[in-house]
Amino acid sequence: MAMWPELGFQQSPYATGPVPATEEGENLFVGREANAKRLANRLRSSELHPTIEGDNGVGKTSLVAVVGYRLRRDYERGDTGQALIPLPAPFQLTQKSDAAALERKVLLAVASAMIENHDLLKNGGHNVPDVSQVKRWLESPIVAGGGLGASVLGVGANATRSVAVNTGAGFNEEGLRSTVFGWLEQCFPTPQSGAFICVIDNLELLETSKDARALLESMRDGVLSQRGLKWVLCGARGIVRTSASSPRLEGRLSEPLELHPIEDSEISNVVARRLDQYRIADTAIAPVGPESFKFIYDVLNRNLRNALGYSEDFALWAYEEGYFEQGEPALGELLREWIKRRADRSNEDTKLTGTRAWEVFDALAIKGGSCSPGDYEEFGFNNPQAMVPHIRSLEDVNLVISSASEEDRRRKTIEMTPRGWLVRYARNGYSLSE
Ligand SMILES: Nc1ncnc2c1ncn2[C@@H]1O[C@H](COP(=O)(O)OP(=O)(O)OP(=O)(O)O)[C@@H](O)[C@H]1O
Ligand SMILES: [Mg+2]
Repeated sequence: MAMWPELGFQQSPYATGPVPATEEGENLFVGREANAKRLANRLRSSELHPTIEGDNGVGKTSLVAVVGYRLRRDYERGDTGQALIPLPAPFQLTQKSDAAALERKVLLAVASAMIENHDLLKNGGHNVPDVSQVKRWLESPIVAGGGLGASVLGVGANATRSVAVNTGAGFNEEGLRSTVFGWLEQCFPTPQSGAFICVIDNLELLETSKDARALLESMRDGVLSQRGLKWVLCGARGIVRTSASSPRLEGRLSEPLELHPIEDSEISNVVARRLDQYRIADTAIAPVGPESFKFIYDVLNRNLRNALGYSEDFALWAYEEGYFEQGEPALGELLREWIKRRADRSNEDTKLTGTRAWEVFDALAIKGGSCSPGDYEEFGFNNPQAMVPHIRSLEDVNLVISSASEEDRRRKTIEMTPRGWLVRYARNGYSLSE
């Protein structure tokens, strides 16, 4: 028997993926009602595209998923005539992403969404192109010319792959663009009639504000200003704020919604809800209960994703070592020991030379775990260059990660890793206070 069913759960309660855009996701979603209200309001009532800024793993993707799910559900139920319908997946960028490739992805995703949601939109009184027209168009030589052909609709191929194929020669961009934009205008003639919600997630993958800004600016007169498309841009480490503050983007994007860690008092609920959701036997034993979860979360400096990941790791270890017979209270004790041992091991394995780098590390921890190159004075340096070698040393031993460019001096581009927090825990005498 597989581990989770044996322990009395349908699946792992510690999965690290975002909360899904489903009813289940709605049940698991905790402590973000104020943010959810704001985001929903911005999507419903403003032509500015909402932007979200928040640390890695804080819950950006989850928030967007749940809000999108609710907006769609409101329309499905007939509570509103405004059809705000999320595209099924966010658009992920890489440093190689260019505006033309992104636009193509968007146009094809919209065409597929027109097919997927045809009946829903039609029943709601929207003027949606008929499915056969869209399908015919997707199969037409213009769109299929680059070899796209059946890949959008065909069996076994996914949308990502079809887009890759489609970047070849013989692809008439203008035709693609005007057709899809035409459908959007016909389907969503006013902001009140609705839009497809498109998400660009992890804008920080572009690394520098300059790259991110260039991409957003290049979208400005295309998909970013197209009626019927509502964008949500998410990013970490200050990238949204710095890249969106371009004069060319003014009047397009709303002030970033800053996501902070959910309230401490809600953290144990994150796991409590998951245990409830996935429990299939009354006798189920939770490897990491709500209280223990809060402990891991605190050691890892309040990072939800990392706390879930470590909980899962502990569960696997405790199961494999046969500790489950001892029951939940013993598992709580064991978890503390396990964290301590991992912290010790990470600390011992860290071959960092030079006390100055350790001083920078400790100061960074006290500061909360992130800083920008422009904060050098707080670390006792005379200029940013003087701090660089120490940050590099810390990076080399995986205690911090950083990304930056000359113009990003004020962005918090230097961050402690979860491993860094474990090491901090050991160095700090297994104490959570500074
Ligand atoms: N409001 C919430 N309630 C319950 N669990 C949540 C909530 N928000 C996030 N989580 C959980 O926390 C983890 C991180 O969430 P998510 O992936 O949304 O963060 P993120 O900010 O998008 O991270 P990244 O910057 O890495 O993309 C996931 O496992 C998710 O299920
Ligand atoms: Mg995310």
